[in-house]
Amino acid sequence: MQVMKYLEPFLLSLEKLNEVSARLRKDMIRGLEKHAHHRAAVKMLPTFVRATPDGTEKGDFLALDLGGTNFRVLHVRVMEEEQKMLKMDSQICAIPQEIMLGTGEQLFDHIAACLSEFLDSQNLKGQTLPLGFTFSFPCEQKEIDKSILIRWTKGFNCSGVEGEDVVKLLKEAIHRRGDYDISSVAMVNDTVGTMMSCGYRDQTCEIGMIIGTGTNACYMEEMKNVKRVEGEDGRMCINTEWGGFGDDGSLEDILTEFDKVVDRTSINPGVHTFEKMISGMYLGEIVRLVLMKLTEKKLLFKGEASEALRTPGTFETKFISMIEEPDSGLENAKKILTELGLRWDLVDARVVRLVCETISSRSARLCAAALATIANRILANRGLPHLKTTVGVDGTVYKKHPNYSDKLQKVLHLLAPKCDIKFLVSEDGSGKGAAMVTAVAQRLALQSRL
Ligand code: GLC
Repeated sequence: MQVMKYLEPFLLSLEKLNEVSARLRKDMIRGLEKHAHHRAAVKMLPTFVRATPDGTEKGDFLALDLGGTNFRVLHVRVMEEEQKMLKMDSQICAIPQEIMLGTGEQLFDHIAACLSEFLDSQNLKGQTLPLGFTFSFPCEQKEIDKSILIRWTKGFNCSGVEGEDVVKLLKEAIHRRGDYDISSVAMVNDTVGTMMSCGYRDQTCEIGMIIGTGTNACYMEEMKNVKRVEGEDGRMCINTEWGGFGDDGSLEDILTEFDKVVDRTSINPGVHTFEKMISGMYLGEIVRLVLMKLTEKKLLFKGEASEALRTPGTFETKFISMIEEPDSGLENAKKILTELGLRWDLVDARVVRLVCETISSRSARLCAAALATIANRILANRGLPHLKTTVGVDGTVYKKHPNYSDKLQKVLHLLAPKCDIKFLVSEDGSGKGAAMVTAVAQRLALQSRL
């Protein structure tokens, strides 16, 4: 079948995935080093989260969540007695495109204004609560409350924030308003929030993973291997920023011509190579480019594309999930193709489904390879013959696609045969997890004073 000629480069054998995993392993070690990390593609950022929850945390917290599809403000109550986290209330604020691409001051003023509105609606303005800030971008953290943005990823590009301390920018915006205040701030990546929110239910949860708009993972590393932070004892959660894997050219052999176009036409060319092969922000566009190519080669739609198919961004990632639905998939494909103004026949619909399967499978297999690298590393770190662990996971691609998680787990098992890995889907991880990080930090501070 001629179509396969264009799909073959997306098919990655187990052997290739093992190679990819070995490369990531090397990059992770490099990222952890004291000096090489500036140039490392996989940043391996210390998070200053030194412990997962032990079930004794408690209190009321505010949480902010920025970096996915929406910006949210939450009020979370952590209860010791029932080992429960309750979302008391939350509010979603849209971030308009002009703010996503505007100045940092505009962005933080907008965030501070949303928080103000929320506090008013909850009658919380008189209280000064601790705040957990889930900020899902690569940050060089100096402390739990000092976090410097390395670079924007996903659709954001606000001026004057890269290289700055995000906590300071948030506090300044709150002070500019002057109508409320917050006490301590804990900065959290969404992967860390996800791990921590699952950790309250399952204390073996030591890995957090996101496969949504972007992709990334964090895990508990031995302090003695975290060369950039003083101290040898215990563990610290490391935000791997695996999305940047390949930015130094190390994935060149598996990049297809379509991946290269996606990168070139993105707002951050050359950055987050691995993420662009995996996450929701890009999967739909890869499919669209393949469909365009097949149309040009007269292998689809009798060689006739439509205006919509020619337009970047029109093939949404959620279409992939709809088209791959086991029962209604083909019907969905037909509807979507009609809406895109294409004249299709049954063979076209089947080919489109095959393209979707190919692109989403590659994503799941690559994620499995990366996750296997982390699991195998924890196993080796601890010198164990066998590891039992849990991954807290979140993100629309993982949660909404009909068989993504099955595929990922099957391949993971083959690539990390000595690890018995359970998956816990996090409910509201980025929000509640930020509250939990703040709660754990408070517990540790209290313990160290006793
Ligand atoms: C991007 C960000 C990373 C985040 C991930 C998932 O890769 O750089 O910090 O965790 O998206 O949202």
